[in-house]
Amino acid sequence: MTTIPRSGADVLDLAPVMPVVVVEDAEQAVPLARALVAGGLPGIEVTLRTPAALDAIERIAQEVPEAVVGAGTVVNGEQARSAAQAGARFLVSPGCTPALARALADTGLPALPGVATVSEAMALLELGLTELKFFPAEASGGAAFLKSLTGPLPQVRFCPTGGITPRNAPGYLSLSNVGCVGGSWLTPAALVAAGRWDEITELAREAAALKR
Ligand code: 3PG
Repeated sequence: MTTIPRSGADVLDLAPVMPVVVVEDAEQAVPLARALVAGGLPGIEVTLRTPAALDAIERIAQEVPEAVVGAGTVVNGEQARSAAQAGARFLVSPGCTPALARALADTGLPALPGVATVSEAMALLELGLTELKFFPAEASGGAAFLKSLTGPLPQVRFCPTGGITPRNAPGYLSLSNVGCVGGSWLTPAALVAAGRWDEITELAREAAALKR
C-alpha cells in the first residue's frame, strides 16, 4: 500500500530519518528502495543530481508501493514539474526563492523548502509553510541553532540535513522542532555500486530505531 503524504507534516512524520540518495544508475533504484523500506525507512529523497534521478523516481513510484519517494535538490520550477510528472510524492529543495516557492506550490505536492537563517524561515512562514528543511545543518549552526528557534518560531518544524551522522542525529531528534533528520550515510556510494543491499537494510534498521 502506498502512503501518500498530504502535507509537509506527513513527510516529516514518515520516519526519524530521511535517506538522501544519489542514484547513478536507474537499475539500482528499485533494489535500493526495497532495501531501505525493509529496514524501516519508507520515505526516500532521490536527489536530482544525476541524469538517472528522474528515471529512478519513476521506477520507485511504480515498482515499490511501500516506498514514499520524493525528489531532492529541486532548484527550479522545471525540476519541480518534472519530478511531479515522474511520480514524486514530495519535493525538497536546498534553499528557496519566491519563484521556486510558487513552482513547488503549483505542483500540489507537499514540499520541504530549505532554509539556513531565521529570516528565510520567516519568509516561508509568511507563505503558510511550517515544515522546512534546514540545510546545510551542521555548517549553519547545527542543533544549537534549531533549539534557538523553538522560542521565536515554535510553529515551524524542520528536517535538518547536511552533515548529519548516526552520532549527532539523536541531538537533533531530541528537539521539539525537529520532525526527522536527513542524510546520505544510509546509502554509501560503494555499497550501492556493489549492490550490497543487505548492508543498506542494516544501516536503515539502525536509523529507524533512533528515538524522536
Ligand atoms: C542534502 O542534500 O540533504 C545533503 O547533501 C545531504 O547531506 P549529507 O551528505 O551530509 O548527509
